[in-house]
Amino acid sequence: MKVVLGVGGGVAAYKSALLLRLFTEEGHDVTVLPTTASLNFVGAATWEALSGRPAPRDVFEDVEQVNHVRLGHEADLVVVAPATADLLARAAHGLADDLLTNTLLVATCPVLFVPAMHTQMWQHPATVANVATLRSRGAHVLDPAVGRLTGCDSGPGRLPDPPDIHAAAIALVAPDSTERPVPARDAVADGVLSGRRVLITAGGTREPLDPVRYLGNRSSGKQGVALACAARDAGAHVTLIGANLQVEAPDGVDLVTVETTDQLHDAVLAATPDADLVVMAAAVADFRPRSLATHKIKKSDDGTDPVIELTRTPDILAEISANRARPGQVIVGFAAETGDDTHTALEFARAKLARKGCDALVLNEVTGGAVFGQDSTAVHVVTPDGNTAEATGTKDDVAVFLVGTFARIPASTVGR
Ligand code: C5P
Repeated sequence: MKVVLGVGGGVAAYKSALLLRLFTEEGHDVTVLPTTASLNFVGAATWEALSGRPAPRDVFEDVEQVNHVRLGHEADLVVVAPATADLLARAAHGLADDLLTNTLLVATCPVLFVPAMHTQMWQHPATVANVATLRSRGAHVLDPAVGRLTGCDSGPGRLPDPPDIHAAAIALVAPDSTERPVPARDAVADGVLSGRRVLITAGGTREPLDPVRYLGNRSSGKQGVALACAARDAGAHVTLIGANLQVEAPDGVDLVTVETTDQLHDAVLAATPDADLVVMAAAVADFRPRSLATHKIKKSDDGTDPVIELTRTPDILAEISANRARPGQVIVGFAAETGDDTHTALEFARAKLARKGCDALVLNEVTGGAVFGQDSTAVHVVTPDGNTAEATGTKDDVAVFLVGTFARIPASTVGR
């Protein structure tokens, strides 16, 4: 495959030398196009030695080879890392003042921008608009990782780690590839979800009976919120759909609040087309009152008991698993189970995994009311290949473990 690696003028340019190696070691032909500013950070000699090719930057070098058109035409993949605020602006506005921006205007192959800059620059409305413009034109723009920046500051703006950029880039040219970065020691520190869009549901739904009463459950939302924090810290862009959360929603995630299963259903369906990973941690009502009384239900004068007729709610997890909103999407369900005389909780979880058609199921054993509202938990993660992973600890620690485990799950082919 012919890869063009554009390098912008940021300190993170040195990390692109490792990215280049990941491509060349796989046998790809990589032409590095550094911007003039980037040569202040890494010199052309490094790019030329590592790629085994010239690293041109000027449209007027080797004019007879018509590089400003040829490189973009021939490329199977263009990756720009680091993409500075200036480079994103030039690309968004169609400027063509160096060889890299000329190539971006010519390329018809997948283009991946990997921004790296200080948080203020990343969050500036100009950069936000430029990123939106590039995305609307079909370019892929990874969200930067969160962490230590060049000075003593930290926040969103770090270049994701080269293996994560490489995996995201390869996924663009081989979208069916199930290869995912393997989390090493610490999923959060290693940014295993860099650039991924993650949708998490948390809390418990409530189904109104009348204007003052509802049928609900004991889920506090602690585990889902811990997962949202862990996914955010691992570099993901997180949308959290919170149903009656009893804990504070975290900063740095997009929060959507819902009350009922129907509202959750609509919110999930609206958000799944954008999500690479969907984690259905909310406790969802399986039944709701068939009708909602418009006035408070009164005790009857003759002493008869009221009868509340229930009806099934939509099974959101089964529905989104059967109708994948995008290829390669990984969907994870949760199940609170107890064993009985004939089956263990794990056996019930395996059966539920098959029934729901999702890619993994996280089992919480809830014998005796354990788990709900508590700070610690024990989980088993079951997957269709028969593997089981388990962890015990605080909900925060378990969330980090789960985020690392989810990042490795190959996307199912179920329903596609
Ligand atoms: O069937 P059960 O409620 O045990 O399944 C639990 C899993 O299914 C959870 O991931 C929950 O979020 C999801 N679920 C759902 N829609 C329902 C019921 C549960 O998405 N109506």
